[in-house]
Amino acid sequence: MHIDTKCIHAGGFPDNQLKGINTPVFTSSAYGYLDTDVRLYQRYFNTPNQEAVVNKLCELEGADDGVVFSSGMAAISTVLLALLNSGDHAVVQDEIYGGSHAFVEEHFSRLGISFTLTGKEAQEIEEAIKPNTRTIYIESPTNPLLNVVDLSAIAEIGRRRGILTIIDNTFATPINQNPLKLGIDVVLHSGTKYLGGHSDLYCGAALANKELTARIRKTAAHLGGSLNAMSCYLLERSLKTLAIRIERQTQNAFEISKFLESHSKVARVNYPGLESHPGHAIARDQMSGYGAMLSFEPKDMTAQTFMKRLKLIKAALSLGGVETTICDPATTSHQKVSVEVRKRLGISDNLLRLSVGIENKDDLLEDLRQALES
Ligand SMILES: Cc1ncc(COP(=O)(O)O)c(C=O)c1O
Repeated sequence: MHIDTKCIHAGGFPDNQLKGINTPVFTSSAYGYLDTDVRLYQRYFNTPNQEAVVNKLCELEGADDGVVFSSGMAAISTVLLALLNSGDHAVVQDEIYGGSHAFVEEHFSRLGISFTLTGKEAQEIEEAIKPNTRTIYIESPTNPLLNVVDLSAIAEIGRRRGILTIIDNTFATPINQNPLKLGIDVVLHSGTKYLGGHSDLYCGAALANKELTARIRKTAAHLGGSLNAMSCYLLERSLKTLAIRIERQTQNAFEISKFLESHSKVARVNYPGLESHPGHAIARDQMSGYGAMLSFEPKDMTAQTFMKRLKLIKAALSLGGVETTICDPATTSHQKVSVEVRKRLGISDNLLRLSVGIENKDDLLEDLRQALES
């Protein structure tokens, strides 16, 4: 099956009683246990709606098993706590989602886990490895600069050195990038973004092989960040249109990136689909589409001024919805990252991050044009 067909037909839970074509929603928080070995409980991550959507996600990412969480951060924090122990060392890419960065900075030392923040190049990542390194944590394309990490190179380092590799694949989505197929061990998603896709759902996912998923699920049952049946159903429903949404969003983002790159009022555009982007060649090899996120710096105006001039595109936190949204990472996603680190990474105060939706591209281009020129 092709991936767009899998979005619709993979996973799910059959309605054997009424033969309805959708997964029924099983709302019970208490299930019988007599005459069965099965102990169904939402926090054990084994209820029918959880399994229905996990099975679909596994098919999309090429995973053997997975866990769905109540947020992306629940997935990220649970996986890191499941795979790292006191005394271990982690190599962490410095340009990752601000919340993940803050989690590592604020909790690892307290838990006796040491870490090294590195740039995105495979060589830098390998040089940061220590004898007690157990995990390498990366994101690609990155938030908000859209830098690209060579996933096959990182997977090869991990395999050779016996270190688990973990990626946050939120920006790419399973439609544009399948890191497990390139040898990465664990894929994470903030499903709040593209997987949900309608700005009305909080969820997360971790996908891996059976053995790693069992470890993750065990810690997850203790931490308790499980996803309820209604949200599982909503996620399953949203995934049916994931491929078609991402296809349109990716096309729109490509057109917008070209428009912005050629505009005299724009100082810089970051989009891996542009030939001028330093990660373009790697992205072309490892992604099937360049994604729907881009960032740029307007000339001679602040980020706030630009956002207030927009008429159609909304300034909003979060990303990945069917509607185009914009934000300035310095006061939103990366607010918790220190000014020095932001400066080193190149996240300037007037950088704008655009999450491109499925609207008609001409309406989006017109809104951006009038905001740049008015
Ligand atoms: C790339 C990325 N990863 C993880 C997260 C965290 O996800 P959530 O807000 O669902 O906890 C976000 C949120 O913005 C994100 O952008």
